[in-house]
Amino acid sequence: MPDFRPPVRDDLAGITAYGAPQLEVDVRLNVNENPFPPSAELARDIAANVERAVASLNRYPDRDFLRLREHLADYLAGESGVRLAPEQIWAANGSNEVMAHVMAAFGGPGRRAVSFPPTYSMYPEYARESFTELLEVPRAQDFTVDMAAALAAINGSTDSPDSPDSTGPRPALVLVASPNNPSGTAVPIGELTELAQAAAQVGAVLVVDEAYAEFRHSGTPSALTLLADHPNVIVTRTMSKAFAMAGARVGYAAAAPSVIDALTIVRLPYHLSAITQAVASTALAHARELQQGLDVLRIERDRLVAALRERGLTVPDSDANFALFGVFDDRHAIWRGLLERGVLIRETGPEGWLRVTVGTPEENAKFVAALDEVLQP
Ligand SMILES: Cc1ncc(COP(=O)(O)O)c(C=O)c1O
Repeated sequence: MPDFRPPVRDDLAGITAYGAPQLEVDVRLNVNENPFPPSAELARDIAANVERAVASLNRYPDRDFLRLREHLADYLAGESGVRLAPEQIWAANGSNEVMAHVMAAFGGPGRRAVSFPPTYSMYPEYARESFTELLEVPRAQDFTVDMAAALAAINGSTDSPDSPDSTGPRPALVLVASPNNPSGTAVPIGELTELAQAAAQVGAVLVVDEAYAEFRHSGTPSALTLLADHPNVIVTRTMSKAFAMAGARVGYAAAAPSVIDALTIVRLPYHLSAITQAVASTALAHARELQQGLDVLRIERDRLVAALRERGLTVPDSDANFALFGVFDDRHAIWRGLLERGVLIRETGPEGWLRVTVGTPEENAKFVAALDEVLQP
């Protein structure tokens, strides 16, 4: 084939695609998946409902996925105590695609988003793909949000000596992950309220990325509780983690109907396939079954954090299904040592830190045993 250099956008020159290594190893604890596969009953129900959906695959799917929105609203009411109307729900192929819609609707050239790194590594990519300027306000040493710097960045004041460059456009979006990836840190609801108010004052939306919400410690309220009083809040969630449905690619958002209307404008037609809608609705009907797995994972998470701390490592409190730990002079050597022992974790976060996903009790035990070997002097 003759050589061809495609006319790739100048700003993409030299950039490689995002993605963690997908390696076939015994213990995979690298991308915050749920280690428990769907039950046999759920698999059977999905197969039956997919078969039904296949019978009309010659037709485009329900473009507005109304039934799925109802099912998601019912699920959220049970999970968080917040009852929303289906018109307040949006869904797409993973919360990644939900975020792409959010950025397309509210970001864009001449617009700014604010985020709080270290955080989910896709935020810079969302900004790049929507031509939105990203202002990154570093978190404090303990991975909490530096509220003084955050508020200064949102309202454009330069009062705080720690605030990053606040000149430029006022933000249209404030992005905060709670629990945060990779640190596991939940942002207290009082701080989320302050961020929502500050964002509202400059006409911005506050996006609270709750991909890991179901793993939060009991008594920690969801940002869904802010929706009634703060119509500029968007809460994104996913079925990839707690629902153990990463392979199905279903993410969703809860927000004011006017926000959802804006997302509808930028979605591609029929973006959610009939198969995806059938799979998601069936999984939601089995939501109760998840509880047992979630309980196990929460206990295992707390045990894993304790085990790492017992080994003298620093671990921020985690409300998610993973733990960040460190600090290592050569984190790559630790990562490689674990891989050589059949355990794949993630080399991510600030230099010196590593992130491990909570697996089954057996997988976690294998991880800790492998770590002990690797850490031996
Ligand atoms: C904080 C956060 N948000 C969103 C996502 C995306 O999830 P998905 O696109 O699978 O719904 C992830 C995935 O790891 C994440 O860590």
